[in-house]
Amino acid sequence: MMHNNAKNYEIYAVLQDKKQLVVHWSDGYKSTFHYIWLRDNCYCSACGDPRLGKKRFRLIDVPADVQPQSVHCENGNALEITWEPDEHRSVYDAQWLRMHCYSATKREPRQPILWDSHIVNHLPQTTYEEIRNGDAGRLLMLEHVRDYGICFVRNVPPQTGKLESVAESLGPIMESHYGRVFDIVVTPDENQKSVANSRYNLIPHTDDPYQDIPPGIIFFHCLKANDDGSGQSLFVDGFQIAEVLRREKPSAFDLLCHYEVSFHKQYDEQIDIQASSPVISLDPRGNLRGVRISNLFAAPFELPEELVEPFYAAYKKLMQLYTAPKYLLKVALRPGDMVIFDNHRILHGRTEIGMQQQRHLRWCSMQRDYLHRSLQILARRLGY
Ligand code: OGA
Ligand code: ZN
Ligand code: ZN
Repeated sequence: MMHNNAKNYEIYAVLQDKKQLVVHWSDGYKSTFHYIWLRDNCYCSACGDPRLGKKRFRLIDVPADVQPQSVHCENGNALEITWEPDEHRSVYDAQWLRMHCYSATKREPRQPILWDSHIVNHLPQTTYEEIRNGDAGRLLMLEHVRDYGICFVRNVPPQTGKLESVAESLGPIMESHYGRVFDIVVTPDENQKSVANSRYNLIPHTDDPYQDIPPGIIFFHCLKANDDGSGQSLFVDGFQIAEVLRREKPSAFDLLCHYEVSFHKQYDEQIDIQASSPVISLDPRGNLRGVRISNLFAAPFELPEELVEPFYAAYKKLMQLYTAPKYLLKVALRPGDMVIFDNHRILHGRTEIGMQQQRHLRWCSMQRDYLHRSLQILARRLGY
């Protein structure tokens, strides 16, 4: 993957308009910054530093049509504004301004790279050596998770504890009712915390849908594999199938965005959790934010009577998509393979496990925030 080298943006000219400042950059780019926005984002020591969550300035203390008394741009590297009416002085670093430019072309969010079964020919993957060798290797791994929703890491020594050490290099492991780490092995019937401890195949799903906020990032580490080809892992890009549904059957897509389904997990006396959520969640612009798909923990739907039939049709259409070979990545994990994936986007499952097989996967999870935090820290350290 290519990186742009860190650029040094220079301000070429500044034009004062009635309510906004137009900044022309030496690379030809143009940004607009409204005075109210600039005043609100002053990061002098009196106003605080919103970057650090230490904002002291309060909008209520300035007029809504706050105006600059003067604007100076000394050498292209910084912008200095003195404000009416109190002569407050703000200095904005040019790199800071460019980074926070909100003009049209910069506003596009980064788009996920949607994939289907062909991804098997160019798997987003790296190795344990690479992620241990330095920041660049770790950044690549995290970029794969950000862009494809998934990254395979090969050659992680198949030992207990390695899962935790890789995960903890990114952030704290999430404690769940499975504990910090869950062992996915076949156990006797009376001792099965999860259906994953049986030999059953698992249809693609997202994990723990019955939680208010299901885990963001999931890690699998394979310690032992089967020798009969059973227990293969399945992955599906939930964003891909959601977009296919949006294109092919917009009315079905809308139903899955606007009505909630319920999920339930009950396990011995201790665990009884439920949550409801739309199957597909969108951000305010209509971009996909997450999917929550699990036939394993589905509780009875409570839908308006007249929507029961169309909803079931939509739900079934989605299931046809996420079980179709066209969208399925099927891989036999080998001892030492690790998989890191975004549980709000990627569905995972497995084929049935054969009799007397020894497969052993270890599972843990983490909030999504830590992935983003690590990405930012690494990118900054590497100067991107
Ligand atoms: C699970 C699960 C997959 C596997 O435990 O939720 O999906 O390969 N396991 O056993
Ligand atoms: Zn200030
Ligand atoms: Zn699962």
